[in-house]
Amino acid sequence: MSAKVYPMSDAVKAHARLNPESYQEKYQASIADPEAFWREEGKRISWFSPYSKVKQTSFAPGNIDIQWYSDGTLNACYNCVDRHLPERADKTAIIWEGDEVDVQKHISFRELHESVARFANGLKKLGVKKGDRVAIYMPMVPEAAYAMLACARLGAVHSVIFAGFSPNAIADRVNDCGAKVVITANEGRRGGKVVPLKPNVDKALSNNACESIEHVVVLKHTDTDYPLEANRDIWWHDLIGDCDSDCPPEVMAAEDPLFILYTSGSTGKPKGVVHTTGGYMVYASMTHEYSFDLQENDVYWCAADVGWITGHSYIVYGPLANGTTTLMFEGVPTYPDVSRIGKVVDKHQVTILYTAPTAVRALMAKGNAAAKGSARDSLRLLGSVGEPINPEAWEWYYETIGNSACPVIDTWWQTETGGILIAPFPGATDMKPGSAMLPFFGIKPKLVDNDGKVLEGATDGNLIIEDSWPSQARTLWGDHERFEQTYFSTYKNVYFTGDGARRDEDGHFWITGRVDDVLNVSGHRLGTAEIESALVAHKAVAEAAVVGYPHDLKGQGIYVYVTVVDGVDASDDLLTELVKWVRSELSPIATPDFIQWAPGLPKTRSGKIMRRILRKIACNEHSQLGDTSTLADPSVVDSLIENRLNR
Ligand code: WTA
Repeated sequence: MSAKVYPMSDAVKAHARLNPESYQEKYQASIADPEAFWREEGKRISWFSPYSKVKQTSFAPGNIDIQWYSDGTLNACYNCVDRHLPERADKTAIIWEGDEVDVQKHISFRELHESVARFANGLKKLGVKKGDRVAIYMPMVPEAAYAMLACARLGAVHSVIFAGFSPNAIADRVNDCGAKVVITANEGRRGGKVVPLKPNVDKALSNNACESIEHVVVLKHTDTDYPLEANRDIWWHDLIGDCDSDCPPEVMAAEDPLFILYTSGSTGKPKGVVHTTGGYMVYASMTHEYSFDLQENDVYWCAADVGWITGHSYIVYGPLANGTTTLMFEGVPTYPDVSRIGKVVDKHQVTILYTAPTAVRALMAKGNAAAKGSARDSLRLLGSVGEPINPEAWEWYYETIGNSACPVIDTWWQTETGGILIAPFPGATDMKPGSAMLPFFGIKPKLVDNDGKVLEGATDGNLIIEDSWPSQARTLWGDHERFEQTYFSTYKNVYFTGDGARRDEDGHFWITGRVDDVLNVSGHRLGTAEIESALVAHKAVAEAAVVGYPHDLKGQGIYVYVTVVDGVDASDDLLTELVKWVRSELSPIATPDFIQWAPGLPKTRSGKIMRRILRKIACNEHSQLGDTSTLADPSVVDSLIENRLNR
């Protein structure tokens, strides 16, 4: 198959950092001598005391040990804020665009410093100190970034919980890491709707469900008053009322944890992915600079949420470490209508726009209405992240949003990788719609078959990374064994991504999607096991199996098979109730698209659910079921096919 190739425009080539030769040269150097390469690149970050060690990493079975720059000391907040004060104090650090069209704010690096340091002093008053965990459950407001940076300043480990998660999901995450404080807001705003954040936190903490929590800090973001619990809750403005902005950043070792971020895996509860300070900052800053060919006067807009890794690395830490003006958007691309993104670009003269394919498809679905009312001629570069971008969406993004003048940088990476691993390079690579193209410096991607044999040439395979890079996750909070089990046991001595990919005849990578039981719904990662355990927690449900199927807008949709408890009526009312149940137990992002009643599930004789078969039925591909002879009761399949919902 030969894909359409788009060259980088002359305008991009004219100022880009790299050309094809210099990319190759630098890439080869990074692979030939990682120690020397990263020793040099580590200098992009300000260190309190320099590192002498660079790379000490082992993927050996039983000894997964990843350390970078281990004897250096630094502070992430200092790197994002203080170090810009001499040159960029008056430069805008954060542009905040509210949910409503006429609401915005500009925050300079000087103001950022003041707000972060005062809030850090406030947290100190609450007893927060180095090593403590702090949960952040906030809307997309500047205070969310202040909270993250204030934790980093004190050496406290933040765990941001996406504001779309339900009370149960908050409690799980808080308890897993033993957070001492939750920082939240009374309410968030999103797409014209109000999100009751404080009430969700109250529910999560009710009945002493989160014993580690000592305090809840509440930002008054809307006018609604919620009762505060005495001795536990405090308004943000009251907390900082008497705090000054003198708060020296804590001296942190490179390998001290910076944050925990929970993400979905193929089994059990969400995993607390741990990122540390030095390597993460080096890599987030470097990838942000090279992937977007960053210029000093860029107005950079990553339209993700700080609740996800993209928000951590490419709204807060990467851009601010680089002294970039970063735009935070509280709303959604379709509110008040699909012209919003273009209008925000024009209003703030955005030069780089980084968003997810699901957003692109939502706009594309409305024809060219997204382009109405805006010129978007300030843009010079577009980015994509979170899921495979289908060529049709890529081309629409390129032509309609980017006026056929901006490269589309399709960046592949994961919560666990901390930063971009595979992406086109402005100036150095062509673009092929749907391909993430080439590895970043220091990254050695390989394709392997199911037995771990490395495949050469143009082929499909499972994507592994052969060696470590500085922003790689170090462990799962409190469970190093699960870390090894999840990422280093399928194939020995390499990192397994959980993704499948194809390499074409030019050596370019095309990510095809997860090969494990993880779904990607609208760019959100969801474990089928998590949704299943939410479902079986309902008293009417005996058993549940969840699979994904291709969905035009969301990338993947959620297809659920439910077996009800004996004697329960599988009624429409129950169906509605189960949908509501999943939304409130887990999150609205996990809303099932289809729930099919299943009198029985196809199982092997040893009792294992044959998901392969359920997937085929959900994808309406039941004519290609393959071998079903190993099933304990092959007749259940016929009934499932007959009553399938996605036709
Ligand atoms: C998928 C988001 C194709 C992939 C940064 C990965 C992508 C998972 C891309 C990680 C892309 C992310 N092309 N697939 N450009 N980017 N993915 O942890 O399946 O939320 O494993 O990190 O998203 O999702 P996560």
